[in-house]
Amino acid sequence: MTLFEKLRCLLTFGQGVALPLPDISSSTSPFTLFQQWFDDANKSGILLPEAMSVSTCSKNGQPSSRMVLLKSFDEQGFVFYTNYGSRKSQELVDNDKVALLFHWNVLQRQVRIEGTVEKVSHEQSNHYFQSRDRGSQIGAWASKQSKKLPHNDELKQRVEYFENKFSDSEVPLPEFWGGIRVKPHYIEFWQGRASRLHDRICFEQQDNSWQQLKLYP
Ligand SMILES: Cc1cc2nc3c(=O)[nH]c(=O)nc-3n(C[C@H](O)[C@H](O)[C@H](O)COP(=O)(O)O)c2cc1C
Repeated sequence: MTLFEKLRCLLTFGQGVALPLPDISSSTSPFTLFQQWFDDANKSGILLPEAMSVSTCSKNGQPSSRMVLLKSFDEQGFVFYTNYGSRKSQELVDNDKVALLFHWNVLQRQVRIEGTVEKVSHEQSNHYFQSRDRGSQIGAWASKQSKKLPHNDELKQRVEYFENKFSDSEVPLPEFWGGIRVKPHYIEFWQGRASRLHDRICFEQQDNSWQQLKLYP
């Protein structure tokens, strides 16, 4: 983090406690509010404001969470990229219900999202994959994400193998890698306030429209 970003963090720290939720009319879209908060998080100097937790559930009901990076969002949903053979992806095949969580600490803000998933189109995955640096592209080919790694040399050898394989060409999108879109039906915005009297505003999708409700902190 640069000195400038650290100073920004100091300046914004506690701001959320002093600020109530912005004015929200009954027609405010949760995506508009999310965009405002995401912009605020980007401006605040937080490291990786796009980092979010993704929670999935195994067949026998065991939840698990891990961090990923939000790469894009719109009214269709929130997109991250991963290996389709990974634990998270496999669990989502059996149970497409998922929860996302953002925490922007210096802003005293949390966003909770619940929904279901779908794969993004091959074109969208390919477009994103080609925008990545070559090292990350080779890494995607080399990593059997979430599978047992017998020893580190094996990963090193796999990286060398794919570096050689694609030495004279662009690195193609692996068929086992791409985007996952979380289509939300519930989005909750949490704003920290003094005396733990926090604001919680929730948006629930009902019959293709978003209903708002507030919750006790
Ligand atoms: C800040 C951060 C960002 C990450 N971003 C991603 C990501 O975008 N995609 C991904 O597959 N893994 C990402 N990871 C690694 C995951 O947390 C996780 O280790 C990996 O996806 C394997 O998870 P799984 O075995 O539950 O599928 C990230 C980790 C951290 C700490």
